Amino acid sequence: MFSTVLLALLPFVGAKTLSVDFSEYNSSMTVADFLFAKGFKINTYDVDGGDPYNRTYEADNVGIADGYLTMKVTGGTKPGSNVPSACIQTIDSNIVSGTFKTTAIASEVEGVCHGFFTFESNSQESDIEILTSFLYSGNDAVDGGLQLTNQANNGNSSQNTRKAVPYPADPTAGEHEYTLEWSSGSSKFFFDGSEVATINENVPTAPSAFLVNAWSGGNPNFTAGPPTEDAILRVSKMEFMYETA
Ligand SMILES: *[C@@H]1O[C@H](CO)[C@@H](O)[C@H](O)[C@H]1NC(C)=O
Ligand SMILES: *[C@@H]1O[C@H](CO)[C@@H](O)[C@H](O)[C@H]1NC(C)=O
Ligand SMILES: *[C@@H]1O[C@H](CO)[C@@H](O)[C@H](O)[C@H]1NC(C)=O
Ligand SMILES: *[C@@H]1O[C@H](CO)[C@@H](O)[C@H](O)[C@H]1NC(C)=O
Repeated sequence: MFSTVLLALLPFVGAKTLSVDFSEYNSSMTVADFLFAKGFKINTYDVDGGDPYNRTYEADNVGIADGYLTMKVTGGTKPGSNVPSACIQTIDSNIVSGTFKTTAIASEVEGVCHGFFTFESNSQESDIEILTSFLYSGNDAVDGGLQLTNQANNGNSSQNTRKAVPYPADPTAGEHEYTLEWSSGSSKFFFDGSEVATINENVPTAPSAFLVNAWSGGNPNFTAGPPTEDAILRVSKMEFMYETA
């Protein structure tokens, strides 16, 4: 379900579609080559998010099994070590608007974040995030629910525009479709095709990539964790349609 705004733009500018169904994978290709052929790459770098633990995105934590892209946060990280995490992104990093649908099953293991988001920098970012420790209830710092955020354009994270909405269905019990519709002036968020929130403040304007990740920073104010056992996000499909700069 694409917005009429986006559809109206299609005749005039080059829309691009990425479509991947992980049930089509067979071991004739490596996971990295399969993703690359579909328009995605695996990220491998360290992130210092200012949390009690840094994280390292590792290629080995991204796999494909039984029809799902598996994005693992390895359990049992000791203090002082980085949390082994997983991240992929579109090869295109000049996306300016689009509709991004990810169908996935969240991990039941507490202490991780699953992110589906546009990213250029920490002040140009629109996020859908599942916090496995805060599905239904939160604490002083985080509300329970599906986390929807536009990061503050001025870089002051305490001014991020956030909404947490109750999950319409258990995200760990089966596949659900998480959609971000990013356009000029608004970020709209959908769960299984139904709109759950719109944020019109701090909408990113910079050309961006779209990322999917699974990670923990061990911060009780956000991801909690790190997890004591492996936590795996399972993605069955991604359907992206977007404009580039
Ligand atoms: C395996 O996947 C490749 C690439 O998607 C495809 O060309 C090939 O036909 C598949 N092979 C089998 C045996 O399904
Ligand atoms: C995270 O990484 C930064 C930069 O390498 C380092 O200065 C900091 O000590 C690390 N923090 C933790 C908790 O490991
Ligand atoms: C960041 O925003 C908060 C909340 O609006 C404000 O209290 C704080 O002074 C800001 N920090 C800076 C460095 O501007
Ligand atoms: C969590 O938030 C509290 C209150 O806002 C703050 O005092 C504490 O330092 C935060 N913890 C971490 C690990 O950032």
